[in-house]
Amino acid sequence: MFGSSLLSMLCTFVGVSEESPLGSLDLSKMRQGWGTPHVDQSVEGHPLTIAGRAFATGVGTHAASMLWVSLDEKAERFEAWVGVDDEVGKSTGTVEFRVIGDGKDLWRSGVLKTGDAAKRVEVALRGVKTMILLVSAGTDGQDYDHADWAEAKIVMQSGKPEAIEPPREEADVRTPKPGPKPRITGPKVFGVRPGHPILFRFTATGTKPMRFECTGLPPGAALDAATGQLSGKVSAPGEHRCTVTATNAEGKASREFRLVIGSKIALTPPLGWNSWNCFAADVDDAKVRAAAQAMVSSGLADHGWSNINIDDCWEIKPGSDDAMLQGEPRDPDGMINTNKKFPDMKALCAHIHSLGLRAGLYSSPGPLTCAGFTASYQFEEKDAQRWAQWGFDYVKYDWCSYGDIAKDDSLEELQKPYRVMRAALDKVDRDIVFSLCQYGMGKVWEWGADVGGNCWRTTGDIVDTWDSMAGIGFAQNGHEVHAGPGHWNDPDMLVVGVVGWGPALHPTRLTPNEQVTHITLWSLLSSPLLIGCDMTKLDEFTLSLLTNDEVLDVSQDPLGKQAARVFAEGDLEVWARDLEDGSKAVGLFNRGEMEADVTADFAALGRRGPQAVRDLWSQKDLAVVEGKFTTKIPRHGAALVRLTRR
Ligand code: GAL
Repeated sequence: MFGSSLLSMLCTFVGVSEESPLGSLDLSKMRQGWGTPHVDQSVEGHPLTIAGRAFATGVGTHAASMLWVSLDEKAERFEAWVGVDDEVGKSTGTVEFRVIGDGKDLWRSGVLKTGDAAKRVEVALRGVKTMILLVSAGTDGQDYDHADWAEAKIVMQSGKPEAIEPPREEADVRTPKPGPKPRITGPKVFGVRPGHPILFRFTATGTKPMRFECTGLPPGAALDAATGQLSGKVSAPGEHRCTVTATNAEGKASREFRLVIGSKIALTPPLGWNSWNCFAADVDDAKVRAAAQAMVSSGLADHGWSNINIDDCWEIKPGSDDAMLQGEPRDPDGMINTNKKFPDMKALCAHIHSLGLRAGLYSSPGPLTCAGFTASYQFEEKDAQRWAQWGFDYVKYDWCSYGDIAKDDSLEELQKPYRVMRAALDKVDRDIVFSLCQYGMGKVWEWGADVGGNCWRTTGDIVDTWDSMAGIGFAQNGHEVHAGPGHWNDPDMLVVGVVGWGPALHPTRLTPNEQVTHITLWSLLSSPLLIGCDMTKLDEFTLSLLTNDEVLDVSQDPLGKQAARVFAEGDLEVWARDLEDGSKAVGLFNRGEMEADVTADFAALGRRGPQAVRDLWSQKDLAVVEGKFTTKIPRHGAALVRLTRR
C-alpha cells in the first residue's frame, strides 16, 4: 500500500502521469491479416491465454498485424507479454512480435510458436515520436497466427498515446508520357491454332493516325494497315518471324514479331480487364461495353491491353427474387442462356472485337457458379459450343460447387472437371484461353499445364489491402518452375484503381507505393494481368501504373521465365528473371515499415562484370556498376531495374 502510493507520488514528481492500456487506443487503426482486434480477448473472442497462462487484459490480433502509435516524445516505455494464443489448439501458429520506434527496431521477440511461453517485452520509449507494433507471420504463411499483446500498456510521462493511420505517401507518377513518334508496344509473339481465327492487334504509342505493315506474314494472315488488326486463318503449323513497322507523321519504328501457328496459345500472359473486383454481381452489358470503350479511349489498348472479361453473374440464377436474373437456364436443346442483364452476348462479343479487343467470360464445372448462377456441369460440350458461337476467346473456370460433385480431394478428382472442359474446348473451332480457378488446391501449379490450362489461380481471392496483395504475391516463390509460354501461374487479378466488388466502389486501399509493388511483382511473376477496376474512373496515377511499356515488356517477355526470389532478409527481398535478350529484370522490395537500402548482389543473380542498370519505372539509365546495385526503397515500395552486360 505504502509502496504503491510512494510510487505514484514519485511518478507525479518525475512527470510520469499515466499508463495507457493498449486496448484503450483506437484499434480501428490496427491492420491485421484476419479478423478484427479484440480488447482483453483473443482474436476469436476467448480469454487471452498463452501456453496455459491467462491474462486479464491486452489485445488479441492476428498476423500480419500492424498498429502505428503517435507518442509525441512523451512516452516512457512499452510493456507487454506476447505469444500465440492457445485457442489455435494443436495447430502451429508462427509469429514474430516487433516494436519499432522512429524507424528503428527497438525489440524483436524472435520466432514464437504455438505453446511457447509468453515472452516479456519492456522497451524504453523516451524521445520516440512514433511507435509501430508489428506481428509478422513468420515464413509459413499466416494460418493460425493468433497473436496476443497481453497486459500491453504504454507508460506515458505526460499526455496520451494516439493510434494513427499508417502514412499514405503522395502518388508519384514515374512513367514518362509516350512521345509523338511511333513506339511499338504489346506482345512480341502470338500463338494461334492451325485453322483457327487469328485475333491479334499490333499496337503502338505515338501521334495518330498510325499505319502498320508487317513483312513475313504467312498466306492466310491479313493485316489491316489502319488499325493494326491481324486476322485470317493459317492451316499449316509453323513459326513466322516477321518485322512489324508502325509509321506516323513523326517517323517510324520497327521490331520483330513472331506468329506461331501451333498447339499453344497464350504465349505471353493475358493482359486485360475482368469485371469481378469492381462490379461482382452488379455487372451488366452496359458496364462491359463501357469498360471496353475505356480500354481504347484511355489509351490502355495502345499499350497491348486486349481482354475484356465478364466474370460470374451473366447466367440465369435459379431461385433468385430478382426478375432480371430469372428465366430458363438453358434452351430445350441444352444451350445455356444469359440473364436479362446480358440481352445479346453475340452482339457484345462482336462489339468488343470491333474495338480490336478479345472477349472473355466465366463458368464453373459444378452445377452452379460461386455466386449461385447456372454453370456447366454435364453440359460442358454445349457450353463450349455456345461460348464459341457467341465469339468468346477466354474462359475462367471456377471450381465452386464442383466441390459437391467431386468424390474426394484426390488429384484425379481435382483434375477431372478441367480435363472434361479441356476436351470440350478442343472440339470448337476457336482459340479459347482456358483459365483454371480453384485457388491452388492440390498444388495446381504442378499439373495445371497437364490438364490443358493456360493459367491457373494459385491462391484464394485477392482484396485491396497490403496484407492480401503482399501475402499472395511474395508467397509465389517456387512456382516459377511450372510457368512458361502457354501456361502461367495466376496469383489473382489486380486491385489498383477504383475497386469494390459492386455496387459501392472505392479507390484501392493500397497506398501508391504498394500499388507500384503490386504491378512490379505481378509483372515479374508473369502473372496474367487483369485490371480489376472501374475502367471509366481511371486516374492519372493508375494509368501510369498500367501504361509503362518497359514494365509491361517484363511481363510480356517472350522467354516467359517467371521470376524467383534470389534474396530475402527480414523485410527486404530481391526477385529476378531472365529476359529473352540476355538481360535480367530485378525487383527490389521493402516489405517493412520504414525506408531501407535494398541491395541486389550481382553474384547471387549470376551476373559477372559491369552491368548497365536501367530503372524501368522512370525509363532512365542509372549507371554502369559492378558487384552490386543498392537503392533506397520506401515503406512497402519497390524498384524494378534491368541489368544488361557491358
Ligand atoms: C471466386 C473467384 C473470384 C470470382 C468469384 C465469382 O471463387 O475466386 O475470382 O470469380 O468466384 O463468384
